[in-house]
Amino acid sequence: MKKPLWILLIASLIAGCYYDNEERLYPKLDQACDTVGVAFAKTILPILQTNCYGCHSTTENANSGGSNNLEDFTILKQLVDPGKFYGSIVQDPSGKPMPKGGVKLDTCAITKIKIWIDHGALNN
Ligand code: HEC
Repeated sequence: MKKPLWILLIASLIAGCYYDNEERLYPKLDQACDTVGVAFAKTILPILQTNCYGCHSTTENANSGGSNNLEDFTILKQLVDPGKFYGSIVQDPSGKPMPKGGVKLDTCAITKIKIWIDHGALNN
């Protein structure tokens, strides 16, 4: 009669641990958003590559990005400074809603971009 009890105990321990781990692996977005040391090359570029360069790259912008080649830092900066870039990603009236026809960037990506802009939108 002792053996089944042990098995039950071990099984419940494993289940308990697994549940804990799952919660730690998938915390709420706000807690997972790493905003330490935000920099263009490390933080912002990957967001643009994934979500924007499909239309706004050197090879694509002539056709699909409305001549806004975001791969060119000078052009990017010209859109950042008057607030058009930020307006686009937060989808307020100061920019055209982007990504065009796609899903709005997640809160974490927007937060990182805001930090980058607030620190002078450097090419760092
Ligand atoms: C499916 C293609 C597509 C994607 C993806 C896309 N854009 Fe655009 N974007 C366009 C087009 C086309 C325009 C030109 C204006 C228009 O037609 O709305 C534009 C214009 C812009 C402008 C200029 C807006 C203005 O007010 O003049 C900005 C800034 C911009 N996009 C940023 C972004 C950012 C940032 C992303 C990624 C998060 C992105 N776009 C993703 C197609 C796209």
